[in-house]
Amino acid sequence: MEALGIDIGGSGIKGATVDTVAGELTRERLRIPTPEPSTPAAVATVVREIVEHFSWTGPVGVTFPGVVLNGVIRTAANVDRSWIGVNGEELFGAGAALLNDADAAGVAEVAFGAGRDHAGAVLMLTFGTGIGSALFTGGRLVPNTEFGHVEVRGKEAEHRASDQVREKHDLSWEKWAEHVQEYLLHMRDLLWPSLIIIGGGVSKKADRFLPLIDLGDTPVVPAVLRNEAGIIGAAMTAVNR
Ligand code: BGC
Repeated sequence: MEALGIDIGGSGIKGATVDTVAGELTRERLRIPTPEPSTPAAVATVVREIVEHFSWTGPVGVTFPGVVLNGVIRTAANVDRSWIGVNGEELFGAGAALLNDADAAGVAEVAFGAGRDHAGAVLMLTFGTGIGSALFTGGRLVPNTEFGHVEVRGKEAEHRASDQVREKHDLSWEKWAEHVQEYLLHMRDLLWPSLIIIGGGVSKKADRFLPLIDLGDTPVVPAVLRNEAGIIGAAMTAVNR
């Protein structure tokens, strides 16, 4: 099956057609900068542009960096607050499947990447502007977990350990890894997953910080699909719903 996957991020909106059985892009990815302010109308225009670029009439899956319940956006921690209450599936056109960005990345990573063939509890965490999470057991997603907002030392984890925090405060990899380690230990102690996958843009630089992370016998591995995971997971969701 082929579907169009579109990944809405803080800096770019990326789309590509996907072979959902192979878990691979079938055409080159198109990236358009996220409009500012990233209002629903402005983002919907970009989504339409991507659909037109691919001359696409088949299934479409779209990710969003917030909680999505039955197509309706419920939270907007790092995007314009006017998204809250918007029915994204209506906004992006009839038939578009909408889901949380980290959930989409996790769906792809568990099917085709680092979580492949892993039957136990898998926790995927994406480190970017915020921290996204996706939880799986037996390969099935528990949607809309928001573990980036758990508190560590009285502060939301994504305000201590996101990649944005590392960049904004110019933290060394060592210093940032301390924050990540503390957060991961906290998550391990709450969920005891049998595998933790680290995704998001920073996973490209996993060699800079993963060697500094130690969760005992809980393996922590980098995502494999990198910046294509959201697109692939969105396309898979469009086909499988
Ligand atoms: C949002 C999540 C999202 C994550 C990554 C968080 O601030 O609450 O829904 O998955 O950022 O974009």
